[in-house]
Amino acid sequence: MIGFNKPYLTGSETQYITDAVASGKISGNGKYTQLCQQFFEKKYGFGKCLLTTSCTDALEMAAILINIEPGDEVIIPSYTFVSTANAFVLRGAKIVFADSNEQNPNIDTKKLESLITSKTKAIVPVHYAGMACDMDTIMELANRYSLFVIEDAAQAVDSFYTGKNGEKKALGSIGHLAAFSFHETKNIISGEGGMLVINDKKFANRAEIIWEKGTNRSAFFRGEVNKYGWVDIGSSFLPSEIISAFLWAQIERLDEIQKKRKQIWNQYYDGLKEFNIKYNFELPEIPIYASNNAHMFYLVFESLEKRNECIYRLKTKEIHAVFHYLSLHKSPYYKDKYMGDDLIWSNHYSDRLLRLPFYYELSNEDIAFIIATLKNE
Ligand SMILES: Cc1ncc(COP(=O)(O)O)c(C=O)c1O
Repeated sequence: MIGFNKPYLTGSETQYITDAVASGKISGNGKYTQLCQQFFEKKYGFGKCLLTTSCTDALEMAAILINIEPGDEVIIPSYTFVSTANAFVLRGAKIVFADSNEQNPNIDTKKLESLITSKTKAIVPVHYAGMACDMDTIMELANRYSLFVIEDAAQAVDSFYTGKNGEKKALGSIGHLAAFSFHETKNIISGEGGMLVINDKKFANRAEIIWEKGTNRSAFFRGEVNKYGWVDIGSSFLPSEIISAFLWAQIERLDEIQKKRKQIWNQYYDGLKEFNIKYNFELPEIPIYASNNAHMFYLVFESLEKRNECIYRLKTKEIHAVFHYLSLHKSPYYKDKYMGDDLIWSNHYSDRLLRLPFYYELSNEDIAFIIATLKNE
């Protein structure tokens, strides 16, 4: 069986976990947490980074930080994971769903302005497959209407956006806040895991308090206050050193992991590019302003039936390919609350997008076999 995902282990994970355990400090915010956070701050020009136990948690922290209150509106794409929406729904926000582009599943910025009202507080672009959204347009609208931008960069580690001024910026460094995932399906992993990036300095102190259960414990351990206590709302968002030690083993090999994943992506693309029309699927189209971090390889079929036929054909050859998000505006939880137009491109990707097996240890032979099966050879 060629599975859809296989977590890659660099081999140093248990060594670093053993080190963390031996150090006697296994709760959060120790040596490995700080190593990981400093790495991201330096390498990608991020503001303050705080590791979290998931991207879901990082998004929930973001919603608390921007003071979402009942009645506030938050614009997110309908084609995304539930956590993008849940984080804001938990604080009473109304979700205003936006459609995807025709060319790719990212949020369609041409229609964004028409969704902004006096109640809008934030826009949450999702960089699907690690491919940048049209960030110049999003940031320009956010500035003009005084909105916060929270990048959902769950899939977007080591990916970039080149703005109209030619400046290349890491995804996660552009919005006021950004959230990453290190779930086992991502490029670098810690089982479950995530990170909040705080680019807008005004949120930095409060973020640390929310992260530490609403206390100023981090300031206390730095010797900045002589006792710590309950100063705000918060939760236990920080991961243990065991998770951070695992992540550090992955971060150390990030360049090598990325090189291999890009080879896999290119092998798929080169193997399929001349056949996609004959076999009725489209290949990913990466906008010129976006880089490719090889998070996933997807195909878009002309109909739900064609996609299901393909899933079945691959399954008969023991290849596990999977579809992805289902439009959230049509979900059992939100459909009765949703008053907007139907979102045809979000539905389009819900019905037609297929993700092929993608992981570090996928061999050239396996990829060649998947390509041959897709071509019905
Ligand atoms: C776009 C998006 N946001 C958020 C998440 C949640 O990430 P996590 O599983 O780390 O909570 C996911 C999960 O894959 C995702 O795809």
